[in-house]
Amino acid sequence: MTVRPLIAGNWKMYGRQASLLELDAIAARAATASGFDVAICPPFPLLALAAARAGQLGIGAQDCRADPDGAFTGDVNAAMVKDAGAAFVIVGHSERRQGHGETDAAVRAKAEAALAAGLIPIVCVGETLAQRQAGAAAAVVEAQVRASVPGAYPDGGLVLAYEPVWAIGSGLTPSLEEIEEIHGVARAALPSPAAILYGGSVKPTNAVEILAVPGVDGALVGGASLKAADFIAIIDAMAQQIRVG
Ligand code: 13P
Repeated sequence: MTVRPLIAGNWKMYGRQASLLELDAIAARAATASGFDVAICPPFPLLALAAARAGQLGIGAQDCRADPDGAFTGDVNAAMVKDAGAAFVIVGHSERRQGHGETDAAVRAKAEAALAAGLIPIVCVGETLAQRQAGAAAAVVEAQVRASVPGAYPDGGLVLAYEPVWAIGSGLTPSLEEIEEIHGVARAALPSPAAILYGGSVKPTNAVEILAVPGVDGALVGGASLKAADFIAIIDAMAQQIRVG
C-alpha cells in the first residue's frame, strides 16, 4: 500500500484568468517535485484552462454533485470535472458542510461519484471550536471519517484532509501533538490506507514543523496557495521533509 504525500492548494472562490500566471509558476516548481504530488484546486471557470497548462501539477475541483447528468441548474458533476482535465476533487470541505448543509452521507455520495468518474476525492473532515473545547475533537473526526469515506477505494485513490474548522483562515493551528493525535484517530478509522493531509492556516512559516509531524502526509492550503511564492515555499518544505524522511 502506497501513501503518496500531496501538497494541495484550494483557491476557494478566488482567482481569474490572470491568476493562471501564478499557476504557471507553481507548475514549474511541481515539475521538479520528487516523491510527492502537488495540486491546485481552482474555481470551476478556471478548471479546464488550468488543466491545459498544468503539466505535472495536478488539478482539482472544489466540489461536485453526486448525480449523473440531469436537470440540476448550476451544478457540476464528477464526470464533468474529469472531462475538464482534473484529477482531484475536494468533497466535504467545512465551508460546504456548513454553508450548504452537506451531511456525511452527502459527502460520501460525492466521494463515491468521484471514484466512479476516475477522480481522486480529497475528503475533508474536522471539528468546530465548540467541539474541540468540549473535548470531542477525536470522536467527531472519527465519526466523520467513518460516515464520509467510501468503504472501498483503489490504492492511492483517495486522500483525507483533516481541517479543524476553527483553524481555517484564522491563523490558528492545533498544537503539533494535537495534529498527530487526530491524524492517528483518522488513520485508524479509514477502511484502507490513504494519505492524510493537514489543513488550516498552513503557511510558509509553519509548514516545516507541521509536515514533520508523524502521520502528516502533506497539506491542504487555502490562502497561502494563491500566491506562487508562498505556495512554492510550502512545496519546498515538503521536499525538505521527504529528504530527511
Ligand atoms: P487556509 O489555509 O486559508 O486556512 O484554508 C484552509 C482550507 O480551508 C483549505 O481547504
